[in-house]
Amino acid sequence: MSDTFDLVVIGGGPGGYNCAIRAAQLGMSVACIDKRGTFGGTCLNVGCIPSKALLHSSELFEETSHLDRLGIIVGKAKLDLPAMMSHKDNIVSELTAGVEFLLKKNKITGIKGAAKILSPGKVEVARHNGATDVLECRNIVVATGSEVMPLPGVEIDEERIVSSTGALALAEVPKALVVVGGGVIGLELGSVWRRLGADVTVVEFLDHIVPGTDADARKTFQRALKKQGIKFKLSSKVTGVEKQKTSLKVSVEPAAGGAEEAIECDTVLVSIGRRPYTDGLGLDEVGVERDERGRIHVDSRYHTNIPGIYAVGDVIEGPMLAHKAEDEAMAVAEILAEKPGHVNYDVIPSVIYTSPEFAWVGLSEEELKAESIAYKSGKFPFMANAKAKVGGMTDGFVKVLADAVTDEVLGVHIVGPDAGTMIAEAALAMEFSASAEDIARTCHAHPTLSEVFRQAALGVDDRITQM
Ligand code: FAD
Ligand code: NAI
Repeated sequence: MSDTFDLVVIGGGPGGYNCAIRAAQLGMSVACIDKRGTFGGTCLNVGCIPSKALLHSSELFEETSHLDRLGIIVGKAKLDLPAMMSHKDNIVSELTAGVEFLLKKNKITGIKGAAKILSPGKVEVARHNGATDVLECRNIVVATGSEVMPLPGVEIDEERIVSSTGALALAEVPKALVVVGGGVIGLELGSVWRRLGADVTVVEFLDHIVPGTDADARKTFQRALKKQGIKFKLSSKVTGVEKQKTSLKVSVEPAAGGAEEAIECDTVLVSIGRRPYTDGLGLDEVGVERDERGRIHVDSRYHTNIPGIYAVGDVIEGPMLAHKAEDEAMAVAEILAEKPGHVNYDVIPSVIYTSPEFAWVGLSEEELKAESIAYKSGKFPFMANAKAKVGGMTDGFVKVLADAVTDEVLGVHIVGPDAGTMIAEAALAMEFSASAEDIARTCHAHPTLSEVFRQAALGVDDRITQM
């Protein structure tokens, strides 16, 4: 069988399905292929959504045990892990079915099967039902995402030695969990299992967690996580994991070399990053160029070196974030429709959904210094905010960094309650090239957490009023 489309999108994650939908809205005939049994990609199936479901449930579990400080006596919370997991699984099923519905609603041919590019304009699909088809098309967008970066010498079995996928589906709460890598996944999923009762140790190669973030903010963030009981072994590397009958022996060495020590645990989470996923796509045969890290090389219009083949999302350069993939997806669909699609890479927010949350957009103090940009800084703590006090969530601060000459906001860093929601205001302000003064002059409702943002903006000009 042979079908003809304007566009074939390979991958049904945030990069793939958003591209397919936008292209269909713009009048193209579109097929979207995913080799997983459900659409939604890593994000909906084994990433953003299940992790946030467990973060939410585990936060409530922990919170419930502390309600007596508000005069609410409920006794000690009891955990029903299978029920918590089914809640997560139900959300995933609803949302992935939702994507399938959106594809149908937009008259997109959704295909479950593995795709291989035969040549520009020709994609072979090995369907889940056993049939193999060749789709013909004017253009191809590759949005095949990423996969877990393996740790040499440590074999992931997804039961005792797990990646994020296994850590989202553990059958029991580990007594002791060693997390290899103090990045986003390690801290989010480490938080989940600590809240549910695990003793969590994070082993991080560098001398700090979440590399690339504002140092001042991440120190406050790490202090808050430490206060909750997460242990950190920084400047350390895991050199091996030995499986014993009921436990695991993790060998850890100083990153710079030195005496080895062993940590006993029952579960290890490997979360040292993700790498682009292009297996079986036929890229080498077609001649699509990739960089030294395996990322598909594209120009500013997401075009590869091969005519008619484009790529977006985790499989290309840039932060591996669902909203970055989504923005690129819409941009490439618009470019294919000869419209001016674009993504502003200077204003892509990042959020770590722990408690407190850690969110940032734009440049850190270290980056401003490295680029010799003169800046002013305003900072305000949640401790001095009424709404944060009401909720008992006073750890952290908002920091606004603005150009010393023009006052334009260049970076915002938030550690605190609802930082992930609040960062949207900062991103919007930066998208409109707002000055710190613009934010300071914007009326913010009282009592809200967003007043902390305004006070921090006032702080850029030394006019904080509430402290
Ligand atoms: P993916 O979502 O990975 O989708 C690619 C799809 O392509 C997959 O479904 C795959 O099956 C399919 N595919 C691959 N090869 C083929 C082929 N040959 N034929 C057919 N189909 C193929 N990001 C956030 O912004 N916020 C978060 O809170 C967040 N949480 C995360 C939590 C975890 C545990 C993980 C692992 C990731 C998280 N991310 C988060 C990152 C986010 O999931 C990714 O950035 C996002 O999914 C990338 O989208 P994508 O479309 O590029 O790729
Ligand atoms: P990461 O890149 O965020 O963190 C990996 C950490 O592991 C780094 O701190 C790194 O220094 C450390 N590391 C590397 N090798 C090591 C080693 N051998 N031993 C010890 N530490 C080592 O990667 P992570 O956490 O796996 O997440 C992958 C991607 O998924 C991220 O790029 C992130 O963007 C995305 N993601 C986003 C989320 C969000 O937006 N909330 C949530 C989860 C994932």
